[in-house]
Amino acid sequence: MTVVRFEPSGYETSVKSGTPLVDVTDEHPDADVPYSCRSASCGTCRVEVVSGVEGVAPPEEDELEVLEVFGNEKNVRLCCQLRLDHDVERLVLRVCDPV
Ligand code: FES
Repeated sequence: MTVVRFEPSGYETSVKSGTPLVDVTDEHPDADVPYSCRSASCGTCRVEVVSGVEGVAPPEEDELEVLEVFGNEKNVRLCCQLRLDHDVERLVLRVCDPV
């Protein structure tokens, strides 16, 4: 299990490896991550992986294309595509400001 913290809401929960983060935020709306398409198209759900980036699966091609549109910032990912691949001490995700 990994403790996942969402910023700026400050919501924390424990997550099992292999879990898509969209499932976590659907189950815990207090995490307060905004979504729209949920399919790597709109970029609404961009989050910065503040710590624990080594625990998440690398982005696939469709996610990379969207991140490119938004300037390919370091450690920024689409929460709708993010999956905890293996346990880390702590995964911290900060919701990006809308552009
Ligand atoms: S909700 Fe649209 S890219 Fe994630």
